[in-house]
Amino acid sequence: MGHKLALLPFINLNCKLMMRTKILTGILIFLSYLSFAQPGGRPNEIKKLIKVETERTALIFAVGADQKLYQLYLGEKLASDGDYKLLNLLNEAYIPAGTDNLFEPAIRMVHNDGNPSLELLFADTSTATEGDVTTTAIILKDPKYPVEVKLVYAAFSKENIIKTWTEIKHQEKNPVILSNYASAMLHLNADKYWLTQFHGDWAKEMRMEESQLTAGIKTIDSKLGTRANMYATPVFFLSKNHQSTETSGEVIAGTLGWTGSFQMLFELDNSNSLRMISGINPFASEYHLKSNEPFITPEFIFTYSASGKGEVSRNFHKWARNYGVLDGHGNRLTLLNNWEATYFDFDENKLTELFDGAKELGVDLFLLDDGWFGNKYPRSSDRSGLGDWQETKTKLPHGIGYLVEQAEAKGIKFGIWIEPEMVNPKSELYEKHPDWILKLPNRDEHYYRNQLVLDLTNPQVQDFVFKLVDDMLTKNPRIGFIKWDCNRMMTNIYSPYLKENQSHVQIEYVRSFYRVMERIRAKYPKLPIMLCSGGGGRTDYGALKYFTEFWPSDNTDAVERIFIQWGYSYFFPTITSCNHITTMGKQSLKFRTDVAMMGKMGYDIRVNEMTKEELEFSKAAVQNYNRLKELIWNGDMYRIISPYDEERAVIMYVNEDKSKSVLFSYALHPRAMNQFSSVRLQGLDASKKYRIDEINKMSGGRGPGMFGGGFQSGKIYSGDYLMKVGLSLPNNSELTSAVIELTEVK
Ligand code: GLA
Repeated sequence: MGHKLALLPFINLNCKLMMRTKILTGILIFLSYLSFAQPGGRPNEIKKLIKVETERTALIFAVGADQKLYQLYLGEKLASDGDYKLLNLLNEAYIPAGTDNLFEPAIRMVHNDGNPSLELLFADTSTATEGDVTTTAIILKDPKYPVEVKLVYAAFSKENIIKTWTEIKHQEKNPVILSNYASAMLHLNADKYWLTQFHGDWAKEMRMEESQLTAGIKTIDSKLGTRANMYATPVFFLSKNHQSTETSGEVIAGTLGWTGSFQMLFELDNSNSLRMISGINPFASEYHLKSNEPFITPEFIFTYSASGKGEVSRNFHKWARNYGVLDGHGNRLTLLNNWEATYFDFDENKLTELFDGAKELGVDLFLLDDGWFGNKYPRSSDRSGLGDWQETKTKLPHGIGYLVEQAEAKGIKFGIWIEPEMVNPKSELYEKHPDWILKLPNRDEHYYRNQLVLDLTNPQVQDFVFKLVDDMLTKNPRIGFIKWDCNRMMTNIYSPYLKENQSHVQIEYVRSFYRVMERIRAKYPKLPIMLCSGGGGRTDYGALKYFTEFWPSDNTDAVERIFIQWGYSYFFPTITSCNHITTMGKQSLKFRTDVAMMGKMGYDIRVNEMTKEELEFSKAAVQNYNRLKELIWNGDMYRIISPYDEERAVIMYVNEDKSKSVLFSYALHPRAMNQFSSVRLQGLDASKKYRIDEINKMSGGRGPGMFGGGFQSGKIYSGDYLMKVGLSLPNNSELTSAVIELTEVK
């Protein structure tokens, strides 16, 4: 015992020493961490604040004492600028590779002398405001090399949207090599991060999936070349801390305006900080940038809300109608398309008969789809004729002009399908211009849908595509609509035109596509053109600048379409989504019609095979649609019940002064004894009174449902009641639907 006691002072001393050593080590680790987190080990001093702000959102940058640019803040706008200065300089805004960065960079460059590093220091900033839009440019320069990187942020105040892109320039003698060139790098700091992505395949577009991000990198990308989407759409939600709902939670929604291979990368680092990097997919696309020739990245468009996904969607919709989509507030044409009605099997007589159907329905236009061209190799299936844009004489002896006239004689317009970027090996174009095709010189050709991609990087091919459209519209100036298709991605990628710059093909292809569209739009500024890519492959804001609408999917089964259209509705306004009523699904005509109505409605059906009752119903539906289309296209959208959450979907649109609303309700496959609860509406004026009327009714089309009681057309409710208590909807049984119109009564 005594022996042990004698040891006590020594143990005590030893403990103290150990404690001190531990504290000292701790301090050293912390200091080294600080100097690592803030390169140069400088204090957290803010030399300059740069604000990018909309009405409600702020993206704040700061120049540190080390002259680097930091992203200080991204979120709900703070009332006082001084408060931003209390924040720490944690994340360099646009991180270059090659110096002290250990995670995924925004940019990587190899200089003429082989030096693979870049340092970006703040040089200058400028701001310009035009109406609702304030554009801030921040110029960063390398202190050792003549390289300039300009970060540009356009803030759309009312819409709460920020659009950002990067311009990279240098004055070195020879080209520099760019291997990363992000449109945007954004940083978030939270406990947890939830990513929602939209993936799929042909006829399975926009499947929504949410997951919590774990340490490391999560990438959403595509390597398709001619289109962004097929397996993944260039859009995402990122919710902070908790999963966001339609009406709650902090969420960022982003999308890339690029009609080609894209990459969105989310890296969760050692300190639980998140980097989000979006841009062109740098995969196999090293870019040799010439002196003084700016490399301008595509635009990354994003929005933030502290109150859920509904608001970010409405932000996108408003922005898109005002700025993102061609003729975003203009008219759109209802139409009858012949694709699913005839496929390739038609001739002049059959078509003019179909015009009668379009007229009877009361739609604005008839759209002639694939199969009208090619003579040496007629386009009687997808195996031949693509590229030979002359009317097939045996099918259409009097040409397109005659069809335009015949349609007009029946009081409708005429539109036509083209797929100008592609070629079948069985075509005259292929025989004449083998050097106009993207393919590896020493390997077998690789087909997808029996076709190949033209080398649009070649100016002669650009002229060919422009001329095809221009000649057709010059010869037939009254063509009222074009459907522009693109039915394959790139494989065996090699451009005979670009020769030694093969890693530029994917980028130059998309730029060339835009160049052609610029020329077309300069001459035909408002002609409605639908963007299609073997279903929904081109659904991005890079292309929508030139197009009035897009084709969401070749899957027109109405149940599938509810999910697909639901997915697009998060990022794209209703006016852009072409929804056609077809016979693909087994649902009632009413159900299919009601589903198509929640967007830009059209038909692809044999009208002459409709029963009298179906035809009467459809005629009335077209009239209802014409009455409500302004509201559906331009109203605020509220997703009330998601088909991902329940065996039903409910969505509504409210006009600006909240005097009118329309609600769509679709029951999917509820269990027999399930009763749907009342639905609380959103977006109405609590102090207004509304009359509810069920429209698009079809006798026999649906039963009232087992528990359909409670709903009565003509009843009047206050907005307050409808939003707090809710409405019991009339369709409760399997595959039934209802369209409810709400009108203010004074
Ligand atoms: C693609 C489109 C369809 C149709 C066909 C024609 O698949 O998505 O709508 O136009 O091409 O071949």
